[in-house]
Formats: sequence, C-alpha cells, structure tokens
Amino acid sequence: MISRKKYARAEKTVPKGFESPNDFFNYVYNDQDIIWMGQNTNHLHDKDGIMEAMLSSIKKGDYAKYPPPEGFPELKDLIQEDLGLTHGFDSLITAGGTESLYLCANNILDPNNNTLTCDPGYLIIDNFSSRFGEVKSIPIYNKECGYKLTPQLARENLDKNTKLLCLIDPLNPLGSSYTKEEIKEFKEIAEENDIYLLHDITYRDFARKHTLMAKYAPEHTITIYSFSKIYGMAGLRIGAMISSPNIINSVRTILINDLGTNVVAQKGAIAAVNSKYDWLDRIRETTYHNQKIIKEAVDQVEGAFIPVYPSEANMLAIDTYETGVKPSELADYLLERGVFAREGTYTSKLFGHRYLRVSFSIPTEHVKYFAECFLDGMEELTADK
Ligand SMILES: Cc1ncc(COP(=O)(O)O)c(C=O)c1O
Repeated sequence: MISRKKYARAEKTVPKGFESPNDFFNYVYNDQDIIWMGQNTNHLHDKDGIMEAMLSSIKKGDYAKYPPPEGFPELKDLIQEDLGLTHGFDSLITAGGTESLYLCANNILDPNNNTLTCDPGYLIIDNFSSRFGEVKSIPIYNKECGYKLTPQLARENLDKNTKLLCLIDPLNPLGSSYTKEEIKEFKEIAEENDIYLLHDITYRDFARKHTLMAKYAPEHTITIYSFSKIYGMAGLRIGAMISSPNIINSVRTILINDLGTNVVAQKGAIAAVNSKYDWLDRIRETTYHNQKIIKEAVDQVEGAFIPVYPSEANMLAIDTYETGVKPSELADYLLERGVFAREGTYTSKLFGHRYLRVSFSIPTEHVKYFAECFLDGMEELTADK
C-alpha cells in the first residue's frame, strides 16, 4: 500500500450536504444560474475576440498537434511586452499560474530551506513549498501591518535558511498590495540575504497602481502570471512564469508539461493580450463600482467590516466575527439563495473563522442581488444568536 506523503495536505472541508469537495464544485459548476463570487474569476468579458480566436483554432483542427513545449514564441513575447520585461528576461507558458508556482518551489528550494508566506494568503503556495522545504507562515491579519507581509515582517522572520519570499500582490483574499517603496525594500532584502522573491501578480490588472518586483530585482524575482482573472480564462488553465534567463534555464530541466500547454488556450491567450486595451478599462470600472455596492451593504451591519478597502484585486474579505455570524453559516445561507462565496478557511489557517471572501468581477445586477441577500442573511443569522 502506498503511504501518504509527509507533506500531504489535510483533507479539505466538505461543504454541508456534499460528499466531497469535488462533488460540491461539480454541483456549483453545473448550476448555470449560480452567482459566481467564490473563485475570483472574471465574468465580465464580452465578444472581444478571445472566444472567436479559440473557435477558429478549433475549426482548423490545431488541437491534433502538440504545440512547442514551452509555449508559442508569439505568446511569450506578448506577455513579456505586456509587463515591459523584454530584455534580460525569459518566460515559459504553463497550465495556469498554479503550475508556475509549483515549478518555482521545486526549482528554488532545497530540503533545508524555508519559504516565507503570509496568513491569510494563497495556501496552495504553502502546500507546494512544503513539499520541497519548510514553510514559515506569518500572520498578517491586522491593521498595524496593513494586512500584508511587509518588508519589516520579512526581516523579522527570515533566517539563514530562508530562500524564498512570497509576495502575492494584490493579495488573495484581502486585496492589499505593495507600494513602490516597499518593492524597493524587498529588493534590498533579497540582495542582502541572497533570497528569491516569488511575485505572484495574478490580480495585477485590477489594481489602481502596481509595481513589478522584477524591474527592481531582476536576478532575484520569479513573476507568476495568470490568464484566469483579468483575461477571464480560468477554465482554460493557462499562465506563465517570467524570470531571468538563468532561472528559466534551470526550470527547463524540471518541466512537467514537456509536451506543451493547451494549444487552443494559447491561441485565446494571444487574442486576449492583443485586445487587452480594448476592454480593460470597462472591466476595471465595473469592478470598482461593484465593490462600492458591497461596501455600502457591509457598512449597514453593525460589527461587520471590510479589512482592506478599496481592494486592489477583484475580491475582498468581509469580517463578520463581531456579529457572531460564522462565515460558514453565511456561505451556506448564500448558497441557498443561489450565491457562491467562500468562507475564510480556504485562505487562512488562523483567521478563517472571521471572514467571508467574495469576488466581484461579475455583472453589477448580480452584485446588487448579493448585497440584498447578504443583508437578509445577516439579519436572519444574527436573530438566532
Ligand atoms: C494568488 C493566486 N495565484 C495563483 C492562482 C492560480 O491561478 P491559475 O488559475 O492561473 O492557476 C490563484 C487562483 O486563484 C491565486 O489566487
């Protein structure tokens, strides 16, 4: 019998009424009417050429062939141009930012190394890092540090074995992000301590302002890029990693998808980057407006608050701890009303009992409906306390 790996993660909690997490996701996925606020995906794309490019690729039968193993050069160039990381950088196309995160941990870490991550944060990074070394997860759910892993916290927590520092920017689940000054301080930290910076910029394009770590510390940064959020292509599973040629060459030796990433997704991704400035402002305006609607609703509930507002991402957390309402009961209530949202335990081991995470890159009428359900739910659930 095969024994569980020492780093195997704990079983995921199973939502009420379902046999397994997969069963739950299959249920929500197949309900066409459900309001999708539980995955930070983007449902605001229109006919903007992305779907058309994929349909055309399918009609040509492109999918019968394997694509070039590390991505179409056209797509690699487009991504690097999008970031302004052309000279002195290289990239690989991967099956989502997720694969890039795994490759990064695998490439950088030795068993005696540790990774600094934050709680709340994107726990998949902790899980991947724990397969190759130790993880030091730093609590950041407080005003004093601005709900983010600050340079000061990084300095206080790193030790001689620290090799990787994770900066999720903007941060899933809170929407906090880094200033240029902080980015410059991280550059100093990386150079002084010879560590690598994992800059996960999955939500970058939702932010009002954003600074790329790679521009300041090119030899020390691995940038993680995703097509799942601003480009609205989560189900296509496509992303990239961008870094110095030295690091990318090293990653080439440990590739998983040696036969390349989905060709139809790559064709869609090319159209997505090419058309970005035709639709970007529209999507950003809608998300700014949507989060105001949520804020107005939360402000009506005594004891509830949004830790980071405005969020620089397409999601935010609603803290209901002081109201006595548990995020899990609120999530169950909302699901009954046809809204899928996420309780905090998906993104925090320490603070998950305090907040519900909702994403808002969805049509405004859906956000208004959420606001109504949220207010009803809080009233009903507090009445039971
Ligand atoms: C911070 C962060 N990084 C990476 C990912 C994964 O992105 P992808 O769909 O490109 O694998 C997510 C998805 O939610 C995320 O929140």
